[in-house]
Amino acid sequence: MAMASTRAPSSAGSLAPGRRTLRPRSPAGLPGFLGLSPSKPTLRRPLALVSGARPCPPLFRCAASSSPAAARPASAPRFIQHKKEAFWFYRFLSIVYDHVINPGHWTEDMRDDALQPADLHSRKLKVVDVGGGTGFTTLGIVKHVEPENVTLLDQSPHQLEKARQKEALNGVTIIEGDAEDLPFPTDTFDRYVSAGSIEYWPDPQRGIKEAYRVLRLGGVACLIGPVHPTFWLSRFFADMWMLFPTEEEYIDWFKKAGFEDVKLKRIGPKWYRGVRRHGLIMGCSVTGVKRERGDSPLQLGPKAEDVSKPVNPITFFFRFLVGTICAAYYVLVPIYMWIKDQIVPKGMPI
Ligand SMILES: C[S@@+](CC[C@H](N)C(=O)[O-])C[C@H]1O[C@@H](n2cnc3c(N)ncnc32)[C@H](O)[C@@H]1O
Repeated sequence: MAMASTRAPSSAGSLAPGRRTLRPRSPAGLPGFLGLSPSKPTLRRPLALVSGARPCPPLFRCAASSSPAAARPASAPRFIQHKKEAFWFYRFLSIVYDHVINPGHWTEDMRDDALQPADLHSRKLKVVDVGGGTGFTTLGIVKHVEPENVTLLDQSPHQLEKARQKEALNGVTIIEGDAEDLPFPTDTFDRYVSAGSIEYWPDPQRGIKEAYRVLRLGGVACLIGPVHPTFWLSRFFADMWMLFPTEEEYIDWFKKAGFEDVKLKRIGPKWYRGVRRHGLIMGCSVTGVKRERGDSPLQLGPKAEDVSKPVNPITFFFRFLVGTICAAYYVLVPIYMWIKDQIVPKGMPI
């Protein structure tokens, strides 16, 4: 894997201070960036690297072994964290996605806040939105970038159909594809954005390695995703449903893929008042800069999931059903938090 040894300035622009045109904002009660440098660790806990993972029985299929979170089989069966289940999940969810799911977990305010570290300072930037679904995040991107320079990729044709109906996305290239195997040449984009999709990737490290590969020198990856709950009941449902990584896992994946200047910004709905114990479906925006041309230095084995392999329909149905029931818990959490926010006087913890 050839890696350029020089560090030329990027045509895409880097995270130079003073070049931002997006207003920096942070929801009340949430700390801003967790700056990360090996000499000055800002994280309270050590990286949650899990070794010696036990093999999973088929019903409790775990993901690939190349990432720490993937090696969490006992506590995290993660019924929907596979491409086939995600496909069927969004076959139905796409019908109500924009109206039922986003308002509780992923508001326009949050989206703008999460995209701010992506530094979309020029309308000429070439941007890819991976797992872009119905185009909610893409709508945030085209506020700053010409739609003709934006590509939206998703594995669900049903989600993409909704995106195609959005007038503001006219001009955006909309294609089907897999986040873990992007159909683009190396060194193509100035920005890689992915919001709320990593939780379905069987091998998140592979997806982040792909983010690195398709970015140009100086390009920025901005990955927005869930964060792991600490409250026991929420943790139970989260781990049964899909992947809720820890903040440390995100940072570890980015660094292993070869990214530099890795930063994590906490996000969350305003009415949560900064509460993170239930986990958040959109809980952080992680960014990293590509400082060398070419592919990621990380070497991985074969893909975790062979989508062409036949599955046992009974096992599949059971996994899908249980996963969907667990997902329903996370429809209720934001409603519960909203009610608490209405009842508990402002300024008091909820
Ligand atoms: C929660 S939605 C997020 C959609 C959009 N980014 C947004 O901000 O509203 C997750 C999306 O990831 C897509 N997805 C899941 N696994 C994928 C994969 N391996 N490759 C591409 N897309 C994937 C799903 O089809 C779904 O549209």
